[in-house]
Amino acid sequence: MPTTDFNKTAAISDGHEAKKAGYKVPFGTVSITPKAKQLIDEAIERRWLTKGKYVKEFEDKFAALFGVKYGIAVSSGTDADAIACAILYDFGARRGDEIIIPALTFVATGNAVLQAGFKPVFVDVKRETLNIDPDKIEAAITKRTRAIMPVHLMGKPADMDKIMAIARKHKLHVIEDAAEAHGAEYKGKKIGAIGDMACFSLYAAHIITTIEGGMIITDNERMAEAARSLRNHGIDGKFRFRRIGFSSKMNEIEAAVGLGNVDIFHDILNKRRRNVLYLIEKFKKFGPYFIYVKEEAHEKLGPHAFSMIVRPGLNFTKDEFVAFLEQEGVDSRNLFYSIPTQTPSYAFMGHKIGDFPESEFCSNNGTHIGCHQDIEISQMDHVIATVDKFLKGKNSDRH
Ligand SMILES: Cc1ncc(COP(=O)(O)O)c(C=O)c1O
Repeated sequence: MPTTDFNKTAAISDGHEAKKAGYKVPFGTVSITPKAKQLIDEAIERRWLTKGKYVKEFEDKFAALFGVKYGIAVSSGTDADAIACAILYDFGARRGDEIIIPALTFVATGNAVLQAGFKPVFVDVKRETLNIDPDKIEAAITKRTRAIMPVHLMGKPADMDKIMAIARKHKLHVIEDAAEAHGAEYKGKKIGAIGDMACFSLYAAHIITTIEGGMIITDNERMAEAARSLRNHGIDGKFRFRRIGFSSKMNEIEAAVGLGNVDIFHDILNKRRRNVLYLIEKFKKFGPYFIYVKEEAHEKLGPHAFSMIVRPGLNFTKDEFVAFLEQEGVDSRNLFYSIPTQTPSYAFMGHKIGDFPESEFCSNNGTHIGCHQDIEISQMDHVIATVDKFLKGKNSDRH
């Protein structure tokens, strides 16, 4: 059981707005520990607030959590993704080369690939896992493909054995977008420690947070060095710049919050896992109505949130379901959109609706709710009772 008193650590909450709006089950939260507050005070006292010793300590401790040698802290998860892509220029990639990503993910993954000067090539997902369908990857590989960037959506590990085998066969790099999957495991390996590099978002609702922030981890020294250069405009030496870089450094205040979170990482993870496993168990009876992410024997979820997709052929829509959740005080978010086909008004990179049927199905019918460390069993029971009430109402409509 968790040992951290989250009532004391969650001094500030991403669910602040949600709480104000009266949600019984807010979507996100931020844990600010007493140690973080002390470190922030000390940094202010020292008058050293830009990247300094806390950032370095945070990078080292973060990387150690995943058993990886180097951590490079940046301003956001999006920048982590973009910088990881840009590192490939040190390894023979050229502008306009291609990086394979899932069609269903937070839009940041696609933006980051473009921001780094590459072309995102989208591959459909599997609705049961929400992750890239490995059996569709090879068809998307061309002679300009440089990397595969799987996303472990909602903290569910992508099928890394198949992805790594394809990458090895075609001599591609693998960049894990682990923005939502801190602490997840795949066949005994830590998510983030399987590909060449992994990128984490440290945004407010994520397991380890710095409020805004990101982290790249890698065992490859050259990649780590390139990341350090790229986050600071491509610096190489004193005011000499040899890469097209980003302005993406982390500051000491953010690192202090992160150091506090590293201390309670296992407590946060355990509480989120307790919550998500509770929901998974309770949702078994709703199986005919919803597809929800499950934990399989070979893996451990690093839960970001709990997803629910309305099955086809039922007498209600996702929008009706979400409206009912809202009415009962359960805060939710759409299950992202199929990036290339979410704007039917124009064809993004030549795609049209219907090109990514699984991703589009998930977007049209899916939602997700919080399962974070400040949510108690009684709140999850409220979720279950709400879903029960909604379905009973719908079934009685039928008869
Ligand atoms: C899968 C994925 N990738 C990248 C990001 C970008 O992270 P950030 O919001 O910190 O820029 C997110 C953010 O939640 C995400 O969910």
